[in-house]
Amino acid sequence: MRPGRQPASSARTCAVFPGSFDPITNGHLDIVARALSVFGRLTVAVLVNVEKLPLFDVEERVAIIREVYRDEPRVTVDRFSGLLVDYAEAIGASVIVRGLRAISDFEVEFQMALMNRRLNPRIETVFMMPAESYSYVSSRLVKEVFQLGGRVSDLVPAVVERRLSEKYGTPIKSARSPVRRKG
Ligand code: PNS
Repeated sequence: MRPGRQPASSARTCAVFPGSFDPITNGHLDIVARALSVFGRLTVAVLVNVEKLPLFDVEERVAIIREVYRDEPRVTVDRFSGLLVDYAEAIGASVIVRGLRAISDFEVEFQMALMNRRLNPRIETVFMMPAESYSYVSSRLVKEVFQLGGRVSDLVPAVVERRLSEKYGTPIKSARSPVRRKG
């Protein structure tokens, strides 16, 4: 630890989990649960990205995540624009939480973490690994699979599946009973 820096009790630490969350997946939920086991409070912060064309607009994404965490008082759901470190400082968060699914995530995450540290050395980035069963889950693939008629119920919370169904105007695919072979 650098001189002058006070050790923080992690239970009192406020962390921010930023992302696009278009939509939130069970992989994200896994990271939130892990972050809550270490940090006292967590803000899930949805990026207002004017360049990207999202499936769900920011208000929808925030509403979905609020519904998921309506019974978890330690989670706040918010939106942000501009520099993440400025937003983190403004809400009193000293830690940025990011999920690392695979080595392929690492390069870009490492770059962002170092840039954020350069911009504001008081804020630490902490990487957390989701359960292996979520290592292949991404918002992009969830949308693609649902749109093409695949089942995503094990990959996203029920509210997301419902919203996907409303958005695409297609029914939710139920779990199929295993195909029995004759003979
Ligand atoms: O879910 P995503 O799309 O991988 O999240 C990316 C996010 C929101 C973490 C990143 O784009 C971000 O922090 N944007 C804010 C702009 C910023 O601070 N940029 C400079 C630091 S890298």
